Amino acid sequence: MCELERWRPLRATASLVFAEVRTTCRRSHRVATKANGGKLRIVAAKTCMKILSIETSCDETAVSVMEADGDLRQSNYRVPGNALYSQAALHNAYGGVYPNLAKREHQKNLVPLTIRALTEAHLFQRATTTVNCSSGVEKNVRDEQFRRDIQEFLETTQKPDIDLIAVTNGPGLEPALWTGISFARALDIAWNIPAVGINHMEGHIVSAFLQKDRDKSKYQMANIKFPLLALLISGGHTELVLMKEWFQYELIGKTRDDAVGEAFDKVARILGMPYPGGPEIDRATSRARTRTSDVLVSLPRPMLRDDSCDFSFSGLKTAVLYLVRDMKELSETDKENIAREFENAVSEVLVAKTARALEKTHAKTLVVGGGVSANTHIREGLESLIRHSFPDVALRYPEQNLTGDNAIMIGVAAYLRYAAHRTTPHDTLEAVGSLSLAES
Ligand code: KG4
Ligand code: ZN
Repeated sequence: MCELERWRPLRATASLVFAEVRTTCRRSHRVATKANGGKLRIVAAKTCMKILSIETSCDETAVSVMEADGDLRQSNYRVPGNALYSQAALHNAYGGVYPNLAKREHQKNLVPLTIRALTEAHLFQRATTTVNCSSGVEKNVRDEQFRRDIQEFLETTQKPDIDLIAVTNGPGLEPALWTGISFARALDIAWNIPAVGINHMEGHIVSAFLQKDRDKSKYQMANIKFPLLALLISGGHTELVLMKEWFQYELIGKTRDDAVGEAFDKVARILGMPYPGGPEIDRATSRARTRTSDVLVSLPRPMLRDDSCDFSFSGLKTAVLYLVRDMKELSETDKENIAREFENAVSEVLVAKTARALEKTHAKTLVVGGGVSANTHIREGLESLIRHSFPDVALRYPEQNLTGDNAIMIGVAAYLRYAAHRTTPHDTLEAVGSLSLAES
């Protein structure tokens, strides 16, 4: 438990303010609340902040309860409640994420997952009298069944001891993002706890800043040196982003067509493997790499010699399609060998472009984030690059359980923004499918 100093609300003023309150505690934090106009303002200080975070940008519904303290350089996180439901098996039939199915599943699962996360954190209590919450729910939630579920939840639940709600507002699938956002807005109004929007890709970056404490249930912020280069590799993104300082982003390179995770998923589908294809290919290639006598296939390394830090993976996927068509019948060994060559091609390109970006930016830290950062062979390639060519650069990945989409990373990003006084004043919290880091 964090040593909590009860916080005293200050009188809200008309504009957005960050009011620092001196307290007797050694490390004090600004705590947000909302006043007229729905703008966020910082009204109190306490030693520890409790954040309820929500992630629904793609096919994972995730809710977590986090306690955070410390400042930008030295912060600590405890996650007493964490609930995540992956819809991957349901999307398997479509070979990728089907947006309306994702939306329906988020709507079905958000309330039960929130109850689970709050219960785990000992913050869930049934209300003794019925709470009236209809205005916020009706205003924000259009779907009838979802509205009824939220209404019932709010009417029968006591306001939990939470200071802030953090919700992913982009990038991602808009119907999926809206589910989390309308839920967060309904909670915000019913409980009068401010809800802030967090960029999903920022979540992936900061997830790599965390290191497990000796006490395994806690995380600490690593000592991060700037400028920092982030290689973001997920199902929707392949980007090299320079972070000169906290929350200052500059795009150095990006994919011109498919994202790398998308290419993994499509190639896996061509090879008859289930969705999501990345982990399947990772497993298949681990088997293939133990054999040395196989007949090897050959695939292109797209844009390897191009001077830019951009990527292209659509041609590589097509090359796999043609190769498979030409080979007609594929044995399991053939499939594993094609997967290995595909993974080699992707890894070589990612490593070469990252090397180019490191030379260009003189970054002191390389962060790898997004679902594909779990890949064994890509990790080995980047580790070897740093060891041999950039020994002074610190390489950071997220813990394996934080590589994919999760709500913990959203809570951490929200806390860091508070610690840096960089919250966005949202009069209206909205989903932005193509939200860039520079806009956040
Ligand atoms: O970040 P993420 O969970 O969701 C998005 O924001 O898109 O990334 C999902 C992507 C999927 O394309 C999945 O196949 C890929 O990450 N992925 C992997 C591995 N684990 C997940 N790709 C390669 N190797 C893996 N081990
Ligand atoms: Zn993601």
